Amino acid sequence: MPLSVVILAAGQGKRMHSDLPKVLQPLGGRTLLEHVVDTATRLNPASIHVVYGHGGEQVPDALKHLPVRWVLQAEQLGTGHALMQALPAVAEDDIVLVLYGDVPLVRTSTLQKLVDSAARGELAVLTARLTDPGGYGRVLRDTEAQVQSIVEHKDANTEQRRIDEINTGLMACKAAWLRRWLANLGNHNAQKEYYLPDVIAMAVAEGLLVDAIAASGESEVAGVNDRQQLAAAETTLRQRIAAALMYQGVTLRDPARIDVRGQLNCGRDVCIDINCIFEGTVSLGNRVGIGPNVVIRDCEIGDDTQVFANSVLDGAQIGARVRIGPFARIRPESQLADETHVGNFVEVKKSRLGRGSKANHLSYLGDTEVGREVNIGAGTITCNYDGVNKYPTVIGDGAFIGSNTSLVAPVTVGPGATIGAGSVITKEAPADALSVARAEQKTVAGWKRPRKK
Ligand code: UD1
Ligand code: CA
Repeated sequence: MPLSVVILAAGQGKRMHSDLPKVLQPLGGRTLLEHVVDTATRLNPASIHVVYGHGGEQVPDALKHLPVRWVLQAEQLGTGHALMQALPAVAEDDIVLVLYGDVPLVRTSTLQKLVDSAARGELAVLTARLTDPGGYGRVLRDTEAQVQSIVEHKDANTEQRRIDEINTGLMACKAAWLRRWLANLGNHNAQKEYYLPDVIAMAVAEGLLVDAIAASGESEVAGVNDRQQLAAAETTLRQRIAAALMYQGVTLRDPARIDVRGQLNCGRDVCIDINCIFEGTVSLGNRVGIGPNVVIRDCEIGDDTQVFANSVLDGAQIGARVRIGPFARIRPESQLADETHVGNFVEVKKSRLGRGSKANHLSYLGDTEVGREVNIGAGTITCNYDGVNKYPTVIGDGAFIGSNTSLVAPVTVGPGATIGAGSVITKEAPADALSVARAEQKTVAGWKRPRKK
């Protein structure tokens, strides 16, 4: 039977107190909705329908790239009403799996159980026992422990509120059944909404078996309704990613203090110290060491490279056996070849350093092409900007740039050239020669320091 997934994502998320529709809130570097679509995609469904509404076109506009069919629920009249909007486009004998845009961490394996149960002809609902079930719909069972219905927290009496088994909202069954039940939903309840979970009592009334499938743990079914729950989901995701990294052989000095907001690929024997953030797609080669408080986004880093404390790397390609930091900043479109060193308080922007070149202290290299085995002295600055335009600097192989040199671009330093410390280089510095551009030192003998009057 083909599978159609419907993701309900039209709600406002009042409890977030945000201008952003709830399903666009970020979790681990992606929106809540992207997490849910990703999980759904792994079930290989025939189609994914996303019901949107609050915030208007903001949600589909922000997530145009998703392979889903967008269904507008113009007025948010409840979860049952939301599902009703999507069903006309679903074939009669499809299995429908209902997911919530604000339940982002559910596992594919759990969803597969729901789909399998629905394929056997049951109404599958995902439930969980929570230590704090407050706010959720509760599962009501009869004396034989058969599921009878769901009561929403706001409609529940004191005794029902003591039930710790909750409805996760996720369910699966034949499209034809849902269509029939939804047509008969009412909104006579505390919130005057058309509640999707009310279909459970309808199924029971028809003598159908409701298969309550237990979630694998509390965290996979946690809803994100407020900022605290968003933070809790972030913690869960962080733990999952850390566990997966360690399982692959990565050493994490403290698994509670790493944030991966994207995709982190690691070779063998990688070691990551505390408080590091990885964004976008980051690849670390074998035996790479990342010091504490390092932020890396969209970088590829070669084998045996060490990134020391407090460095920030963004959009760079970094070779093998490179040493970066502490306190280095590598900006987009930079390439550091094998065995290069970029030390403390060095900023590299859109520049290439050839094999074995070193800029160890206090430098700015922007729009610069550095050859191999070049030594960039402390305090060297490429003056690449005249206030309007950017210009390139080219430094040949084996050049030696003395400390505190300003290279006023566009300018070329030839291979093997030496630049005297403190120079302001505005013209080409020829190969294999010494160029010095600074006021000559003079000595005034017998000069007296001023005295206090
Ligand atoms: C819902 C369930 C509750 C369950 C809980 C689990 C109902 C009535 N209650 O409650 O039993 O324990 O989820 O997390 O279903 N949405 C729409 N259109 C609407 C209303 C909601 O698309 O008109 C979407 C929301 O964007 C959200 C999802 O449906 O993604 C759930 O809505 P929400 O208002 O958060 O329901 P809960 O009160 O959490
Ligand atoms: Ca919710």
